[in-house]
Amino acid sequence: MASAHPLPASITIRRPDDWHVHLRDGVMLAACAEHTARQFGRAIIMPNLVPPVTKVAEASAYRERIRAAVPKELKFEPLMTCYLTDGADPAELTRGKEEGVWVAAKLYPAHATTNSAHGVTSMDRVAKGLEAMEKAGMPLLVHGEVTDPEVDIFDREAVFLDKVLAPLLRRHEGLKIVLEHITTREGVAFVEANPGRMGGTITPHHLSYNRNALFKGGIRPHFYCLPIAKREEHRLALRRAATSGGSQFFLGTDTAPHTTDTKECACGCAGVFNAPVAMQVYTQVFAEEGALAHLEAFASLNGPRFYGLPVNEETVTLHAKPLDIPDVVAVPGGGKDITVFRPDTPVDWSF
Ligand code: DOR
Ligand code: ZN
Repeated sequence: MASAHPLPASITIRRPDDWHVHLRDGVMLAACAEHTARQFGRAIIMPNLVPPVTKVAEASAYRERIRAAVPKELKFEPLMTCYLTDGADPAELTRGKEEGVWVAAKLYPAHATTNSAHGVTSMDRVAKGLEAMEKAGMPLLVHGEVTDPEVDIFDREAVFLDKVLAPLLRRHEGLKIVLEHITTREGVAFVEANPGRMGGTITPHHLSYNRNALFKGGIRPHFYCLPIAKREEHRLALRRAATSGGSQFFLGTDTAPHTTDTKECACGCAGVFNAPVAMQVYTQVFAEEGALAHLEAFASLNGPRFYGLPVNEETVTLHAKPLDIPDVVAVPGGGKDITVFRPDTPVDWSF
């Protein structure tokens, strides 16, 4: 995959945003917020706390806790999302959008992933909420996996597209939808087939490894996340989509911190903590694909355009120098830490 293009010594782009982040709360928030805020101007904050963020007042309070956890010198804007539950209140969705609190709402199929027990059990049960979102111009962010245990874990995204997402698009014709953390070529094709209505986020880790990485030399829990990494052909489809310059695809790290002990155990949690290395890994991928000219579109332009927000005015510069990745980030109090994502191949870009 060596690029035919000569690589520059540095690349400067508008400050990027992260359109899919788990910042958690409490000591985990204290450990993680700074890492996202150092790299990104804004971030879409996932609402899968315990209990989930379903009310405008809860989101406002959480936004304040996030702002307080970010070092003062960093300019960072958390963009809040509403966790959709069965019977989600249309008035709460509309009011939160009008008050400038909700930027979007998140659909977790019940039991699809971490903290999704309160998620949606059938699309009928959120239809009224989705209608309110259509009217308010509020995008729906989708965790696109079916939860039927009969469906193979590697097929759950593709089946979701046919069984859930296609009917949803037809039923709610005015709804804009983001297929979050796409992991398959079917997901890429589905987004591309719905220009104007759909966007898709792609993580640095799904661009970096395929499912073999989870089992290389033994089971490797720090590569486990949901949706799970798929075959190489899918990773290549994701790399093509991300680096194409196409306006429907944008940056969403899905950085999802869990303490090291809860990953390295008999039933380890799903989630890759990539916040400290995200832009460096994305830049590596774009450089490998000879597509650095499209990095700014993916990282800094396509997302704001989809959400109808202005682009950031500041710039950031990444340099062609090997990245030194810390093993862990410490969690304040209690001696725990979070293992940082380390791709199997070198990252030759740093800030
Ligand atoms: O791997 C994941 N971790 N996937 C998700 O959808 C949720 C996330 C988390 O919150 O840990
Ligand atoms: Zn996520």
